[in-house]
Amino acid sequence: SACWIIVPAAGIGARMNADIPKQYLSLAGKTVLEWTLQRLHQVPDVKGIVVAIRDDDKHWPALELSRLYPTLTVVAGGDERHLSVLNALNALRLQADPDDWVLVHDAARPCIHLTDIAALRHHLQSHAVGGILATPVSDTLKSVVESRCIETTLDRSVLWQAQTPQQFRYGLLRDALLAAQQHNHLVTDESSALERAGYQPLIIEGRRDNLKITRPEDLALAGWILQQQETAQ
Ligand code: CTP
Ligand code: MG
Repeated sequence: SACWIIVPAAGIGARMNADIPKQYLSLAGKTVLEWTLQRLHQVPDVKGIVVAIRDDDKHWPALELSRLYPTLTVVAGGDERHLSVLNALNALRLQADPDDWVLVHDAARPCIHLTDIAALRHHLQSHAVGGILATPVSDTLKSVVESRCIETTLDRSVLWQAQTPQQFRYGLLRDALLAAQQHNHLVTDESSALERAGYQPLIIEGRRDNLKITRPEDLALAGWILQQQETAQ
């Protein structure tokens, strides 16, 4: 089955506290979004890449990425991340088969390794649903009640941190996100929508350096990781 890539890039980056959305901040000589798209364009056997961008985004046109990557499709983002992804899925409606694969990857994860994407695709080859890159949790996690009192310590041995890409069958992902939209469910990643629909996506262990740029201190670390990765090549 064919493979498509969706890049949600329509967030405002509130936690980053910068004056522009974090996907347009620059690190190691390029914007975050340029790093991400450059890597995703090297993934083999991909039928198309769809990027979700905010309607009023003035930074996107300035980068001229549509000229650099003529096969890129741009759609309007939604108010929530999963609604941005849903818009992108809808844009593929006439071209994609229900059994096609869709890889959803955060614009804010520029350090993604091609070997991790290859591992994800390899492990899911004959899977009916899909799965995600994730890392085992290394800290001890506490469940805390409102008054900041610790209620309990979670069993770390069963806990993983979800990353992207998350890879799912086109038809299942679209149905799950449509259901989430209809019922106003909280969806923080694609997998959670499929879990709610009763599926059990697979976990594939990824690299720790595939961090999501979320807070100001993440930027310097991501810049360092990108530089290390480039010199290692
Ligand atoms: N995203 C999106 N549409 C939204 C919200 C988020 O496409 N309505 C994208 C972001 O651009 C980002 C990815 O989803 O690449 C992961 O989301 P997150 O890290 O939460 O980014 P932001 O929502 O921009 O940041 P914050 O939550 O701090 O505002
Ligand atoms: Mg967000």
